Amino acid sequence: MKSIRNLYLSALVLLLFSCSGQQGTTVGSTPEVEKRVEKLLSQMTLAEKIGQMNQVSAGGEVGNYADALRKGQIGSILNEVDPVKLNEFQRLAVEESRLGIPLLVGRDVIHGFHTIFPIPLGLAATFDPALVEEGARVAASEATAQGVRWTFSPMLDIARDPRWGRIAEGSGEDTYLDARMGEAMVRGYQGTSLDSTSMAACVKHFVGYGAAEGGRDYNSTFLTERQLRNVYLPPFEAAIKAGAMTLMTSFNDNDGVPSTANAFVVKDVLRGEWGFDGLVVTDWDSMGEMIDHGFGEDRKDVAEKAVNAGVDMDMMTFGFLSHLEELVKNGAVSRKSIDNAVRNILRVKVMLGLFEHPYVDVEAAKAVQYAPEHLASAQKSVEESVILLKNSGVLPLKGGQRILVTGPMADAPHDQLGTWVFDGEKAHTVTPLKALQELFPGKVDYVPGLTFSRDKRNNFFDVMAAARRADVVLVFLGEEAILSGEAHSLADLNLKGSQSELLAALKATGKPVVATVMAGRPLTIERDLPNVDAMLYSFHPGTMGGPALANILFGKVNPSGKTPITFLRTVGQAPMYYSHNNTGRPYRGETLLDDIPAEAGQTSLGNTSYYLDYGAYPLFPFGYGLSYTTFAYSGIGLDKEVYKADDTITVTFTLANTGKYDGTEVAQVYIRDLVGSITRPVKELKAFERVSLKAGESRTLTVKIPVQELAFVGLDGVKKVEAGDFQLWVAGDSASGEALSFKVQ
Ligand code: GLC
Repeated sequence: MKSIRNLYLSALVLLLFSCSGQQGTTVGSTPEVEKRVEKLLSQMTLAEKIGQMNQVSAGGEVGNYADALRKGQIGSILNEVDPVKLNEFQRLAVEESRLGIPLLVGRDVIHGFHTIFPIPLGLAATFDPALVEEGARVAASEATAQGVRWTFSPMLDIARDPRWGRIAEGSGEDTYLDARMGEAMVRGYQGTSLDSTSMAACVKHFVGYGAAEGGRDYNSTFLTERQLRNVYLPPFEAAIKAGAMTLMTSFNDNDGVPSTANAFVVKDVLRGEWGFDGLVVTDWDSMGEMIDHGFGEDRKDVAEKAVNAGVDMDMMTFGFLSHLEELVKNGAVSRKSIDNAVRNILRVKVMLGLFEHPYVDVEAAKAVQYAPEHLASAQKSVEESVILLKNSGVLPLKGGQRILVTGPMADAPHDQLGTWVFDGEKAHTVTPLKALQELFPGKVDYVPGLTFSRDKRNNFFDVMAAARRADVVLVFLGEEAILSGEAHSLADLNLKGSQSELLAALKATGKPVVATVMAGRPLTIERDLPNVDAMLYSFHPGTMGGPALANILFGKVNPSGKTPITFLRTVGQAPMYYSHNNTGRPYRGETLLDDIPAEAGQTSLGNTSYYLDYGAYPLFPFGYGLSYTTFAYSGIGLDKEVYKADDTITVTFTLANTGKYDGTEVAQVYIRDLVGSITRPVKELKAFERVSLKAGESRTLTVKIPVQELAFVGLDGVKKVEAGDFQLWVAGDSASGEALSFKVQ
C-alpha cells in the first residue's frame, strides 16, 4: 500500500514541477526534496499549516513560547542567537509538537555576525564581489554555528538620495554594481552547496523602498513599471538567479500599493516571470502597517490581501495566525494558497537540512567566533573599501613622526561598527587610536577635542596646543552609528556638531592635517576639504577599522576604494546620480550665482538644467577614488564598429601605473544608448575590474560585454536591445574618459 502511495506522491511531485509554470526551481530543489515536502504537507492540519506561516521575534524566556511551539503555531523565530536557547526552541518544536517540524531561525546578519565588516555601502566601495562573498561566508560560518540559519540580507534597494538613512545598508545608486554585490552575498551566505554552514539569504526590500520620497524612511514611492524593470528589479532578479532562498517585501507603498500586498511584483514578476520557488516573508509588521497605509480595514483584511498577493510568512503582525483559518473557511483564501505558502517554507527547511540537524554544538560555536582568519578578512574588506578623496602629497605618512590623534571617531568602538549591528561586540573593535598606539608606542598623543559626532563644544585650545607639538594631525570624524540606518534620515548632511569648527582650528595651527571620515552615508564635506591636506572616506568600517586605516595612512596598503554613491556638494542637490537622463536641456556651463550681473535679463543666463548656486555637478561622481599612485588608460578599442544583438562586445585597453607606488585601479566600462524608444541614461556601468599593477607596470586587458546587456524595457514594455548608435567609455570613474562609438544593427 505504502509503495503505491509513494508512487502517487512521486508522480504528483513531477507533475507539480512540470506544470507549476516554473522552469524547474530557482532555489535548487530536487524531486527528492519535493517528495518530502508533499508528504509532510499531506499530513498537516490547516492549523499546523498556518502555524508555519507565523514568524515571532523571540525575546525573553524560551518557556514563554513552549505552548505555541507544542501546538505548531510558530514556523520561524528571529532575534534569539544564544545557542543554548536556540537548541531549546528547536527541541520544543522538534520533540514536543505533533509533526516535529524544526524552526527556521532568522537574524539581521547584515555585515557580519560577531566579526563586523564594513557596512554594505562600504563593501560596495571595494568593487570586489569575490571579497564580499568571502565576508558573507565568514558571517554565515559564525552565525550558523550558533543556530542562526536565515539572514535578512542582502539589502538590494537602489538608493539615490543620501538623506535616506538606509543608504548605509545597500550597495548604492547603481543597478549593475548592486546586482553583482547581491549575487556575491547570496553565494557567500548560502555557500556553493548547502550544508550546516549555509544561511538562507533574504533579498530585500522588495521593491523600490530606496526611492522613498524626500529620503524619508518608510515613505511612499512612485516608480513606474519601466523604472522598476530597468533600475530597481534587475538586482533582485540577479540574486534570485544566484539561488537566493528567500525574499522580504518592503514597507513602502509604490504608486498606492503597499509591497506586502502587491500581486504585480510578488505574483506576476517574482513567481510568474522569474519562477521563484523560495519563501516570501513580510517585513516587520508590514502586513499590519497596511492598515496605517489606509490599504486595509483591519488585520483580517490585510492578512487576506497579503496571502492572496503571494506572501508566505508573516513577521510580527500575527494576522495569519489570527485570521487565516476563518478566511479559508469563508472562501476568501483558498486552501491552494495556503498549501503553496507552506510548500515554500518547508522547501527551505528541508533544503537547509534542518530536519536532520536542528541542533548546534554550543562549545564548538565559541571557537568559530572572531576567528583570526575572520578578522583578517574583515580587515582586508576595510582596506579595499576606503576611498581616498584628497591628497596634497602628505599621504602616505612616514613612521617616526610625532602624531596627534583627535576627533570623535578616533576611539569610538561602538560607533565604528556602524548601523545594523546586533551581535558585534565593541570590546572586539580595534579603533584607529588603539592601532596607531600599538604601531608607534610613545609617538602618539590623543586629545579627542570632541567626544561624539554631535558634540557642540566650541573651544579647541587643548587640541591646538597638542597639534603644535605634533608633526602631523590625524583627525577622525563622521557620524555616530545611530545617525544612519533604519528610520534615521537626515535633512542636513554636513558634519554634525562642531566637527567642521575642529577642522578649521586644526588648519589654523599650520600643521599637516589628515582627516578620515567614518559615516553611514556620503556626507556633504565640500566646506571641510580646504581645511585638510588629505581625506580618507571609510563607510563605517567595523571591527578591524583601526588596523586597516593605519595600514593605509602609512602606505602599507594603497587605497583603492571607489564611490558607490554620488557625493553631493550640498543636500539641496538630492537626488543626483550619474546614470541620469540627459533631459532636453542639459547643462552647458551656464552662469553661476556669483557671476550673474545685476539686473540680469530674464533669459540672459541660458535656460538649462542646473542650480544657479551649485551648478550641475556633484562634489565627487560615482566610481571615483584616488590612489597614492596614478593610472593612465590608453589604446581603448572595440573589436567591431557594428554589432548584432547576439554578439559580444570585446573591449581592449591598456592600463599603466604611472606613479611610484604599487596600486590597484577599478577600471570601469560605461555605455550609453544614444536614441531609444524611451529616453535612456547618459551612462550605465556595464563592467568593472580591479587591476593591480606594480609601479611603472602596464597591462593590456580585455573585457567582454554581451550586447544583450544593453537590453531594456522600452515603450512597448518588452525587454530587448534596440538598434542604433551607442557610446562606450573605459575610465577610473563615471565622469572621466573619452567616448568610443559603435552601432547595434
Ligand atoms: C526591520 C527591517 C528589515 C529587518 C526586519 C527584521 O524593520 O526593515 O530590514 O530585516 O525588520 O529585523
